[in-house]
Amino acid sequence: MIPSFRPLGLLPLLMFSTGSFSQLNGIDIRDKMEEMEHIWVDNNGANADGFVGAVSPCTNYVGRNGPNEGEQSSAQWVRTVFHDSVTANLAAGTGGLDASLGFESDRPENLGLFINDTLRFMSPTVSAYLSMSDNIALGLVASLAECGGTTTGIPLRVGRIDAEEAGPAGVPMPTTDLETTLAQFAAAGFNQSETIALTACGHSLGRIHYSNFPDIVNASAVSTTNVNGGVGFDATPADFDNLVVTEYLGGTGSLGGLLVTAGNASDRSDFRLYVSDNNVTMQALSVEATFQAQCNSLFERMINTVPSAVTLSDPITPMTWKGVNLMLDISSTGAVSISGLIRNLYYYVAPPTVVYYDTSTTDNVYSAVQVTAAASGFGTSIFGYTIYWPFNNTIASPGTNSLNFEGISYPINDEIFILPAQSTSSRSNFVLKAAALTSLTESLGTMTGVLYVPERQQGTVSSKITNTTVEMTAYATAGNYTLFSSGSVAVANTRSVVAKVLLGDSASRTVKGDLFQRGF
Ligand code: HEM
Ligand SMILES: *[C@@H]1O[C@H](CO)[C@@H](O)[C@H](O)[C@H]1NC(C)=O
Ligand SMILES: *[C@@H]1O[C@H](CO)[C@@H](O)[C@H](O)[C@H]1NC(C)=O
Ligand SMILES: *[C@@H]1O[C@H](CO)[C@@H](O)[C@H](O)[C@H]1NC(C)=O
Ligand SMILES: *[C@@H]1O[C@H](CO)[C@@H](O)[C@H](O)[C@H]1NC(C)=O
Ligand SMILES: *[C@@H]1O[C@H](CO)[C@@H](O)[C@H](O)[C@H]1NC(C)=O
Ligand SMILES: *[C@@H]1O[C@H](CO)[C@@H](O)[C@H](O)[C@H]1NC(C)=O
Ligand SMILES: *[C@@H]1O[C@H](CO)[C@@H](O)[C@H](O)[C@H]1NC(C)=O
Ligand SMILES: *[C@@H]1O[C@H](CO)[C@@H](O)[C@H](O)[C@H]1NC(C)=O
Repeated sequence: MIPSFRPLGLLPLLMFSTGSFSQLNGIDIRDKMEEMEHIWVDNNGANADGFVGAVSPCTNYVGRNGPNEGEQSSAQWVRTVFHDSVTANLAAGTGGLDASLGFESDRPENLGLFINDTLRFMSPTVSAYLSMSDNIALGLVASLAECGGTTTGIPLRVGRIDAEEAGPAGVPMPTTDLETTLAQFAAAGFNQSETIALTACGHSLGRIHYSNFPDIVNASAVSTTNVNGGVGFDATPADFDNLVVTEYLGGTGSLGGLLVTAGNASDRSDFRLYVSDNNVTMQALSVEATFQAQCNSLFERMINTVPSAVTLSDPITPMTWKGVNLMLDISSTGAVSISGLIRNLYYYVAPPTVVYYDTSTTDNVYSAVQVTAAASGFGTSIFGYTIYWPFNNTIASPGTNSLNFEGISYPINDEIFILPAQSTSSRSNFVLKAAALTSLTESLGTMTGVLYVPERQQGTVSSKITNTTVEMTAYATAGNYTLFSSGSVAVANTRSVVAKVLLGDSASRTVKGDLFQRGF
């Protein structure tokens, strides 16, 4: 499905703040940011993964049983953030957005299809680059953008770490009393008016379902096109707007929804909250611009509520120019080449027919200017259009450390590198090939391959990234380099694997196992 284009006032020249080469769990932060950017920006066509398509249009539902369930993926994704993060304990520095919710789907406080629907859809984009909790954060931002919010309202950061077990319980339910509810939100960092606002923001989207709350929702809500009997909190459950607020205050439409009007007063959790400050917060939110600004700011805090050990990256912004699938290769005589794709994201400024690039060495010696092949891939994005040009050229080696085009640079490590074009993967095996300067192998010793593999884990749909390390064997020399092979390495799964090689304290750049040759 082609999303509607939302022209930005301007598409700024977007670049990462420099110097972000620090690592997290052995992965460069910049690589994590670029992976998040990819999933956010590459929506349709070449190199797309379809993530944003799940919530485009906002009414869409990608769960197993099809479109007649009375469910909406965007609302599920927003509720997932709330249920995962509200059990944080800020004082203790624990919990928050950490995907622990995946282990908690059978708790009464987490009734519904939303957790496993969400994690199942997001599983293919979980890798060493992007945790499930980072996927969940992106899911909220994408949902709000597709449901009538903006693409820029909530800065998106990367670096969350997934929990490996369930966290504490405590998500408020319809019957939870006001004091307990406020205490739970306070522990997670939200005061009373923020709690009221956040709840109204959340309940701008989606439904309460008869299948989950038969005491609150009338059975008449169930039909063949609404199998779970979903009833919106307001007349526009697929619009991120303040109608839930104005219907509540104005006594119109759904009056704020069934958690305001439930037949049994003990189920009126939203009413108890909204009146708890004499409607002052709700009055403020009745101005649409205030609602949007407040919701964005509170949602941002909620996705950035993380365990104290987690450091989040700088915000990710769509990149006008980007290098994709960069990889090195080596010939039998030791000539090293770099290949990949250059992506341009454009809206107003038409792309060129080809792109010029060069490489440079540690001594700032620049190669002759090179030119890409003709464009080979085209896509669409909520930010405009994408176009991809392939390139491949030999580099001066050893000593090249940078690929440069259109004012941006990518680091190259031509001392130790994986050879994706010579590595292979099957359903459950890898043969990893790599090259290293012979002079380095003499001083640094053994070459080790590392595969970061998403593996199934008990009790959650979300996978856990485990690393498999393997000692690699030298099998040939090529010019200044020695070539290494891992032999056949069995792994639980070969999708979304990230690989690197280590020589003593030195590491290659990481590459996606999806770039390896298939089958052997
Ligand atoms: C006291 C606080 C809250 C209570 C008791 C509460 C309760 C509920 C209940 C009972 C449902 C119906 C679920 C279903 O049947 O599928 C629901 C739906 C929802 N809630 Fe809340 N909620 C609260 C706060 C929040 C907050 C803070 C957010 C977001 C920040 C939020 C986001 C949502 C969303 C998006 C839905 C729709 C889910 C869907 O359509 O699948 N809620 N909530
Ligand atoms: C809650 O925090 C907001 C800032 O987000 C502040 O303006 C407000 O005064 C606080 N309210 C209470 C009840 O502490
Ligand atoms: C449920 O809905 C039906 C049909 O709209 C209505 O007749 C009935 O009174 C409702 N029941 C309750 C408890 O609201
Ligand atoms: C708050 O608003 C609700 C819904 O309009 C209304 O029923 C209630 O009386 C108001 N309460 C106060 C204290 O203003
Ligand atoms: C209302 O809900 C409370 C708490 O769940 C329950 O104890 C009570 O029996 C309910 N009342 C009716 C009339 O169903
Ligand atoms: C790039 O070109 C070189 C030389 O033609 C070739 O050996 C290498 O395999 C190519 N790289 C890729 C990834 O295809
Ligand atoms: C969600 O999936 C997990 C892992 O397979 C399972 O243990 C759990 O029971 C499922 N939860 C629901 C509500 O279906
Ligand atoms: C592999 O995982 C172990 C245990 O989680 C960790 O200590 C180690 O640093 C990881 N190795 C690499 C190369 O990332
Ligand atoms: C080997 O490295 C030297 C510089 O260290 C370079 O001059 C030479 O061209 C390289 N050999 C090959 C085959 O690339």
